[in-house]
Amino acid sequence: MVNIKIGIIGGTGLDNPEILKNRKEVKMTTRFGDPSDGVVIEVTPSKVNYRGNIWALKEVGCTHIIASSATGSLKEDIKPGDLVIADDFLDRTYKRQQSFYDGEPDSLKGVFHLPVHPPFSAPLRKVLIDTAKEIGLYCHERGTIVTIEGPRFSSKAESTMYQMLGGDLVNMTTIPEVILAKEAGILYAVVALATDYDCWKEDYGTVSHEKVLEMFKNNVDKVLKLICAAVQKIAEKNWDAEILQSKELVERSLM
Ligand code: ADE
Repeated sequence: MVNIKIGIIGGTGLDNPEILKNRKEVKMTTRFGDPSDGVVIEVTPSKVNYRGNIWALKEVGCTHIIASSATGSLKEDIKPGDLVIADDFLDRTYKRQQSFYDGEPDSLKGVFHLPVHPPFSAPLRKVLIDTAKEIGLYCHERGTIVTIEGPRFSSKAESTMYQMLGGDLVNMTTIPEVILAKEAGILYAVVALATDYDCWKEDYGTVSHEKVLEMFKNNVDKVLKLICAAVQKIAEKNWDAEILQSKELVERSLM
């Protein structure tokens, strides 16, 4: 059985490193530059070194990544405080390096066309959904995340457009993280926490950074409980087939 290693990417409000037992801090640099560590929290979403972060997790041997993300809800029934195990995305970013193979001098060589569907690992999502049920945490079992460039929040017209496009949630970090993880052959899923109704809902008011942090703080226990319980379940399962499949997909996509 292939050894597995699970990387946790904690987004806004999830920067408590004490959740993991036997935690080791590894300072690294990669061919794509230094990954952000726990201290670097004031980087705008556009400036996060996503390639460095994912590559560092690959280099330490991660086979799985669970990310957490504060998100705005675009749907009435996804209420602030709810958890969503997202299954798809809409990309509204425009300033980020989305690939390790983007033809830049410091990038990996080759022409690379990765089939991105399904972007989030279905078996990893299933573990998160099953775990949530087992520990009695309500979660939405699917959702499409719209990732915007930020750092500003959306206008009302944009928010309404994302709803019309089929978005369920809006955030600033899932792209390019999920794509790079897939390029790196790592199984990736996100536990999204709805922190607000963005700005589309008349009786709710408008999202602000303070509101996001406050809601995340009030609900972070749920996210941590789910991730910690899921890590246990992931460790019990044999992932050989899924890991091989993602590795083969990467190999087949490279020309
Ligand atoms: N993160 C949390 N809430 C958000 C929102 N409404 N838009 C973008 N990112 C967010």
